Formats: sequence, structure tokens, C-alpha cells
Amino acid sequence: MTTSARISTELTPGQLAGRSGVAVSALHFYEREGLIRSRRTEGNQRRYPRETLRWVAFIRVSQRVGIPLSEIRAALETLPEGRTPGRQEWANLSERWRRDLDLRIAQLIRLRDDLTNCIGCGCLSLDRCALANPRDKLGEFGPGPRLLAVEPDRRDRRGPVEDGRDVGERAEVRNGRSR
Ligand code: FES
Repeated sequence: MTTSARISTELTPGQLAGRSGVAVSALHFYEREGLIRSRRTEGNQRRYPRETLRWVAFIRVSQRVGIPLSEIRAALETLPEGRTPGRQEWANLSERWRRDLDLRIAQLIRLRDDLTNCIGCGCLSLDRCALANPRDKLGEFGPGPRLLAVEPDRRDRRGPVEDGRDVGERAEVRNGRSR
């Protein structure tokens, strides 16, 4: 590839920042984390392949929905180096995350529904509060937010998973009648 051809397919950090809306410092961070790559010119300046724009967009959107950088990195490592991934390759990548994203969506809906009533309330009513856990009974089933967490494969039910109890059993726990 001639120098002029390469120049037209590459972006300086400033150009990439301007086009992607991401600060140069963030681009450097992504590079340190192995999410994007650049080459160095003879003058030791960074140059990014033009397709890095799509990488950065993917990273930003993924971060926005709460996917950890380690998972984003692992996903990007499945994409081909040195060329722009095709539609099918992006689709395959999305498919890998479908279940995880479905779970996150269920978690957010659950959080929205459970907290809507509780914000500004504070009653912890045994009858209607989604957060009530008298005498910390649910602590017997393990650490973490037992009432709010959505677990894989059981997200249509509201009970803890590891202990094998569902919503009906959980209600009994609340009422002090543990099985
Ligand atoms: S604190 Fe009142 S409904 Fe949850």
C-alpha cells in the first residue's frame, strides 16, 4: 500500500476523537486496554485504521448498557484483524450477547417495577413491599440482593435460584414459615 493510500485509510487521534465523539485520552485508554490498536509513524505518532470508528462506537454503546470492558475485549477479539467485519460477523457477535442482554433488560424492568413503589415510601410492608425481608431471613440463602436480582433461566420467577425456592416459597419465608 502506498503512503498516500494508507494516509486516506487512517485517522489521527484527533480525527478519530472528532469523528467518534470520544476524547483522545479515552482512546488512549482503550488502546492500553487492548480494545483498539494503532500503528506508529516514523515520528512516533499514532495512526488508527479507519474501521476503528466502528470499534469505538461498539465499545461506547456496549459500555452504556453496562457490559464490562473485559467482555467487550473478548468480543472484539473474535473479529478479524486488518479488515472491516462484515454484517454477519457483527450479527454473530450480537448473538453471543443476546442472552446476557435479555437478562439485563429483565433486571432493569424488575428494578423499575420494584422500586417505583418503594421510593419515598419506607413502609417495608410485608404484604406489598418488594424489598421487605424481616429478620433478614433471605440472608440464609446467600449474599447479595436476593429480592432484586434476576437470575439466569428463572427470570420469569421472582424467588432465589440457588436454594431452589420460587415466589410462593419466598412469601412463606417472609412470613416466617421456612420449609
Ligand atoms: S418501602 Fe413501601 S412498598 Fe417498599
